[in-house]
Amino acid sequence: MKLILDLDTGIDDALALAYALALPDVELIGVTAVFGNVTRERSVENNRNLLALLGAAGVPVASGAAHAWAAESYQPGEFKYRIHGGNGIGNVALPASTAPVCGTPAAEFIVEAARRFGGGLAVVATGPLTNLADAIRLDRAAMASVGAISIMGGALTVPGNRTPFAEANICDDPEAAKYVFESGLPVTMVGLDVTMQTKILEKDIARWRAIDTPAAAALVAMAEYYYKNESEDGTLGGAIHDPLALEAAVNPAAFSMLPVNLTVVTEGPGRGRTVGDMERLCDAEKSARVAVGVGAAAFVEKFCGAIADLLARG
Ligand code: BDR
Ligand code: CA
Repeated sequence: MKLILDLDTGIDDALALAYALALPDVELIGVTAVFGNVTRERSVENNRNLLALLGAAGVPVASGAAHAWAAESYQPGEFKYRIHGGNGIGNVALPASTAPVCGTPAAEFIVEAARRFGGGLAVVATGPLTNLADAIRLDRAAMASVGAISIMGGALTVPGNRTPFAEANICDDPEAAKYVFESGLPVTMVGLDVTMQTKILEKDIARWRAIDTPAAAALVAMAEYYYKNESEDGTLGGAIHDPLALEAAVNPAAFSMLPVNLTVVTEGPGRGRTVGDMERLCDAEKSARVAVGVGAAAFVEKFCGAIADLLARG
């Protein structure tokens, strides 16, 4: 399967990137960068540096949206710095990649890949859905041919993590997320309903620590920062949000899915909340599948083992 990751990198985005490189049968053909955990520029830089660190500097990185559809600029707030550090990757300083930034803007990059690979392509978006929405707006038919679109975002059966109702990625661009869900394209939503069940702890990364390479040291430092800072109440454990959205694209059988026609609340205190669309409630066909159950322990084991194998390969 060809894969594009759309990332607002972000520690768990970085872990999703590593997981993509670790998975057999997945060919990462590009990374598109969006604002979110960090600025768009920082996301581009983090993606390029991480790819170089992991021996994949040749994977193109395309630059995408710098802010939400309804905004004119963006700066990450305190909430993001607490979870991901000042540079998005736990304040870990990576050597600068010398690979050039891809000349094609993110949305065009995604659409070109959709036209070329159709059902052989998976697009996994783990930040605000602005790039994905832009791609659908550019060429809906091409995006409808994509084999799998999986997003990390939203909260259907649990409270939000940004507001009592809303999850952070959706909250960062509710209008774009609404456009994606109302486009009618088949989208798998991997939200807090399941990602809060998959936590990473010190014991899980112990085997990464045993590997003596710069890449292993960097990922250990990022994961350590993350599991100590991700939960607001200081409870140890970081939710493996973004890698789980990738898992849903490659291994949907590991999830219980609820078919729903989704939309996003854009007004009032519920702004950013993912809910069933009353306009399409009675439609026989449901375009989104919401992950509401996951084999959590098996996933954490698979994820940590795959990253360990990747790091051990050097
Ligand atoms: C999402 O928000 C970001 O902090 C994470 O990278 C993840 O994509 C979780 O709500
Ligand atoms: Ca993310």
